[in-house]
Amino acid sequence: MEIREYRAEDEIGWVRCRVLSFLDSAYFDNVFPKKEVYENPAIELVAVENDQIVGLLDIEYEVRERTVCSRGTGLGGMIWHIAVHPDFRRNGIGTQLLKVAEKIAKMKGLNRFEAWTRDDEWVNKWYVNSGFMNVESYLQVFIDGNSELKGAIKSELPDLLPVQAFAHYIGEEKEQIKKRFKRVYECNCYEKKLKDI
Ligand SMILES: CC(C)(COP(=O)(O)OP(=O)(O)OC[C@H]1O[C@@H](n2cnc3c(N)ncnc32)[C@H](O)[C@@H]1OP(=O)(O)O)[C@@H](O)C(=O)NCCC(=O)NCCS
Repeated sequence: MEIREYRAEDEIGWVRCRVLSFLDSAYFDNVFPKKEVYENPAIELVAVENDQIVGLLDIEYEVRERTVCSRGTGLGGMIWHIAVHPDFRRNGIGTQLLKVAEKIAKMKGLNRFEAWTRDDEWVNKWYVNSGFMNVESYLQVFIDGNSELKGAIKSELPDLLPVQAFAHYIGEEKEQIKKRFKRVYECNCYEKKLKDI
């Protein structure tokens, strides 16, 4: 297994790896048909085994403070995607991708990584075991059908009838929201300070 920088010709393999990697996670329907292009520079790595992309890591990073990350001081990097193909998990590929990214990040003068993830226990465990700290959270709420929409979401345009909605809940009444809607995720912010810079 080789870890190297992403190349344009990896795109199909990257998209396939990402889709499969997220299928058994809380992001199962968060599908990108193309790889994103970032506004700022990015560390874009892939793990390759027998010409197949089996892991990926994208970190967009700051060249000016607070242009990418949501918190903290100094220059940081935001992990937008980390994924390992389900057939290749728990072999240290995620850890190795992160290690290589940290090396590059330190050379670029970054002092931390930030990442946001939903409440899959095993993914949260991976972040904690990888040296990240859970620093804040909010709820991501899928609102579906008349009974859930009623009293929560209303269209202000005539004849435009909401059928589904996706919302962020940033208030204190999290338990009530979790009771009221069927599909609710705690979205956790993780931060890892990069030492020795
Ligand atoms: C999180 C992820 C990138 C980790 O990659 P990985 O290569 O499998 O992880 P590593 O081999 O480096 O680390 C393994 C550790 O992660 C955790 N872990 C990973 N998969 C797990 C699973 N299915 N069940 C329980 N723990 C798991 C454990 O702590 C495990 O350590 P252990 O095997 O000693 O118990 C990968 O599981 C993945 O692609 N998840 C789905 C995509 C996702 O949710 N990405 C983050 C959203 S932003």
